[in-house]
Amino acid sequence: MTKNKVFIETYGCQMNLADTEVVLGILQKNGFDSAKNIDDADVILLNTCSIRDNAEQRIYGRLGNLKAKKWEKKNLVIGILGCMAERLRSDLIDEKKLVDLVVGPDEYRRLPEFIDNALGGEKGIGVKLSKTETYDDIIPYREDGLQAWISVMRGCDKFCSFCVVPFTRGRERSRGLDSILNEIKQLSTRGFREVTLLGQNVNSYLDGNNDFADLLSAAAKIDKSLRVRFTTSHPQDLSDKLLETIAANKNICNYIHLPVQSGSNRILELMNRTYSIEHYLNLIEKARKIIPGVSFSTDIISGFPSETFEDHLATLDVMQKVRFDGAYMFKYSPREGTKAFRLNDDVDEETKSKRLQEIISLQQSISNEINQETIGKEEEILVEGFSRKSNDFLAGRTDSNKVVVFPLIDGIEEGDYVNVKITGGTSATLFGEFISLTNKKEKSLTAIAV
Ligand code: SAH
Ligand code: SF4
Ligand code: F3S
Repeated sequence: MTKNKVFIETYGCQMNLADTEVVLGILQKNGFDSAKNIDDADVILLNTCSIRDNAEQRIYGRLGNLKAKKWEKKNLVIGILGCMAERLRSDLIDEKKLVDLVVGPDEYRRLPEFIDNALGGEKGIGVKLSKTETYDDIIPYREDGLQAWISVMRGCDKFCSFCVVPFTRGRERSRGLDSILNEIKQLSTRGFREVTLLGQNVNSYLDGNNDFADLLSAAAKIDKSLRVRFTTSHPQDLSDKLLETIAANKNICNYIHLPVQSGSNRILELMNRTYSIEHYLNLIEKARKIIPGVSFSTDIISGFPSETFEDHLATLDVMQKVRFDGAYMFKYSPREGTKAFRLNDDVDEETKSKRLQEIISLQQSISNEINQETIGKEEEILVEGFSRKSNDFLAGRTDSNKVVVFPLIDGIEEGDYVNVKITGGTSATLFGEFISLTNKKEKSLTAIAV
C-alpha cells in the first residue's frame, strides 16, 4: 500500500517550526510520508498562529486558496494545527466547511488517528491541553542542515494581559534535561553547527534541580564548535547565574532577546509584565558588565489600551537608553479571552500606526549607528551559505546575531567559522572582508554514509 503524503505549512513563532518537526516525526513513525510538494499531498496541515489578528487573517486567506485544491481532489484532508486550533476549536470545522481536523499543540500524538479518520470521511477535533506533554521521546524529523530549533519547555504561566499564548499553549512544563542533551549530541554528530533552545520563558526551565543555566552550560559542553542560542527570556527572572553562564562559555552566544514591550511603568503594570523600567534598565546594565559586548533585541507593542503620548515617549526613551541591536515591533491587537480584551481599545488605528512608525524608524537609526560602530572590528562568523542577493558573496552571522556578507573565497563553505573584518554596513546587514578560517566544518557522518 502506498503511504499517504502529508504537507505542513508553518506560521507563527519558532515554537511552531519546532512543533512541525515533532509532528513530522510522529507521522513518519506511523506510516505517513512527507510530501515534497503541496500538489502531491493527500493531507495538508496548517500549523497556525493566533498572536495577532493579522496572523489569523493570513490563515483564513490561505484556507480560501485551499478550497480550489479540495475541489480538484475530493479526498484531500485539510487540517488546522497550532494555536488557532485552541482558540477557535469547533468553529473552524463548523464555519470553514473545508477543514477536516483541528488538533491543538498538546494532542499531536493522536494526529495519525485523526488523519486516518479524516481520510475515511470523519471530521475530528483534539484540543485538550496537557500539564505534562513535552514530546520528550519523539525524534523530530529534520533535514540535514546547520541550524536547529529545540523546544525545551512548553506553555506559559505569565499571563501578560495582552497575550493568547497561555490559553493556546497551556501551562508551563519543562522537557527532561537528558532528552534535550541527547538530541543536541545527535545534531552535533550530523554536522549541525547551531542550536536554539526555545521556550516562551526559558528562565522558568526546571528539571529536578537543574535550571536553565545548568541546561545551557551542559548544552555548550557537548561540542565547542556548536553555537548555542536561546529565546525568550523574561525580564522578571533573568538570573545572575544565567548571565555568568553565558559569559563563561564561548559558544553560548552573547545575544539576549529580552522583550520590554513598553517604556511606561503604568502600561507595564496594565500589561501584567511584573517588572518596572528601572528593573529592566538595571538588568541591561548588569548583563553588560557580566558579559562584555553582549547584544540585545526586544519586542515592543504600540498603542496598548490607554497609552498616552507620554507613555509612547517613554518607550522611545527606553529604546534610546538601551540601544537595542534589533527589535520586533507590533501594533496592539486585542485578543478575545485575554485580560486586556476587557480594556477599551482606545488608541485609534491612525495613532497606533504613527507611533509604530516612529518606533520603527528610531530602531532603524539605532541599528544603523551600532552597525557603523563595528566598522574596522574583527568578528567571527558562522558561514550559512550564499548571500540572499548574489552567489558571488557568502553570508553568515556573528555571535551577536548580525548578518555579515563578504566576497566568495575558494574553499570556504557553509558551516565553516571564519574571521572577517567589518568594512561597512546598513541597519540590516554588515559587509566584511575575509581574514582567516578559524574552524572548518567536518563532513557530517550522514553525508559520509551517502
Ligand atoms: N514569550 C515571549 C513573547 C511571545 S509573543 C515574551 O514574553 O516576550 C511575541 C511578541 O508578540 C510579544 O513579545 C509581544 O510583543 C507580541 N504580542 C503578543 N501579543 C500581542 C498582541 N495582542 N498584540 C500585539 N502584539 C502582541
Ligand atoms: Fe505571552 Fe507574556 Fe507568556 Fe510571553 S511571557 S508568551 S508575552 S504571556
Ligand atoms: Fe503564535 Fe502560538 Fe507562537 S500564538 S507566536 S504560534 S505560541
